[in-house]
Amino acid sequence: MTPLPKNDRFLRALRREPVDRTPVWLMRQAGRYLPEYRETRRQAGSFLAMAKNPEIACEVTLQPLRRFDLDAAILFSDILTIPDAMGLGLYFVDGEGPKFERTVRSAADAARLSVPDMETELRYVMDAVRTIRRELDGKVPLIGFSGSPWTLACYMVEGGGSKDFARIKAMALNDPAALHALLAVNTDAVIAYLSAQRAAGAQALQVFDTWGGVLSPAMYREFSLPYLQRIARELERGEGGERAPLILFGKGNAVHLDVLAESGTDAVGVDWLVELGEAARRTQGKVALQGNLDPATLYGSPDAIRREVRRALDSYRDGNGGSREGHVFNLGHGMSPDMDPEHVAVLVDEVHAYSAR
Ligand code: CP3
Repeated sequence: MTPLPKNDRFLRALRREPVDRTPVWLMRQAGRYLPEYRETRRQAGSFLAMAKNPEIACEVTLQPLRRFDLDAAILFSDILTIPDAMGLGLYFVDGEGPKFERTVRSAADAARLSVPDMETELRYVMDAVRTIRRELDGKVPLIGFSGSPWTLACYMVEGGGSKDFARIKAMALNDPAALHALLAVNTDAVIAYLSAQRAAGAQALQVFDTWGGVLSPAMYREFSLPYLQRIARELERGEGGERAPLILFGKGNAVHLDVLAESGTDAVGVDWLVELGEAARRTQGKVALQGNLDPATLYGSPDAIRREVRRALDSYRDGNGGSREGHVFNLGHGMSPDMDPEHVAVLVDEVHAYSAR
């Protein structure tokens, strides 16, 4: 049995157990807003060079934890490691984000894809997990993660980021069988990837369905939800105390909260377009909730940040029958490079101070 982390607030909140204060971590807590990250990146040469080197990935994972009183670490990597390992050729163009050399546009393209081998083709990720666990030395739990099958498919079909998702939506309309074939292999890969991260030492797992919210409700129910449900069902979660809780994060998932709460996941991550209290009422204690401050709150003054933190904490408590249990504080999406580290400290400290009362 792996010993529990010294600070297990985050894992307790995911299990909806009592905590002394609400745990907090931030999506993209390791990144360009930190000068030490920019320095490490300059030395390594690129984002991918950092992610593919376990020692450097470990260093940048730990950077935000040295500054802020965060209750969890998240593996420094990317969701696009899976399609890269499937042979699509991931690269980054400065200012334009991720791109793929090859795309998936047909049933024949999808049929050529297979689940990568986790301990060879994605060994650098598993080595990063092992290195980070060793260096964390039980300080806080480590979160492993993956993209959702739909969100991965968006990048694989579009060949990079997109504003309108025209190609993948056309595929959904004109050749749904091909898209389902792609989503099926992605789902197998996500399950294998998360299971391997857990085996390597990840103590919680998060699936990022970043682009689920660009789908109409009917299309979400066809092209994203069933695959999220399959992940929650089939994920090899280990036994007893070793089982790693699962968080399903989705931008724009508020309309689907009722069904997500029934999916078998331990927690649902929500964005700021829903009030946390309403989300808590609608999920009725079936899952923990993670979120959900607008990341732009970090552009506010320290006073404004404290006010918004309190508002979110109170909203959750009011919707959760007067209890703070089952809440993991986070932003509703990732941080941006131009945010002020001092403001992050204000946010983290206010979550702990206010929720301890
Ligand atoms: O949260 C963390 O600190 C862990 C690390 C992490 C990264 N990417 C590092 C990263 C995580 C969890 C991700 C997930 C990810 N990657 C998502 C889902 C979450 C989300 O934000 O919606 C998506 C859609 C991606 C794909 C991706 N990777 C994009 C769109 C970009 C470009 C973004 C940008 O700001 O330029 C990346 C690159 C990336 N992944 C960076 C980081 C820190 C920026 C790297 C750099 O230029 O230094």
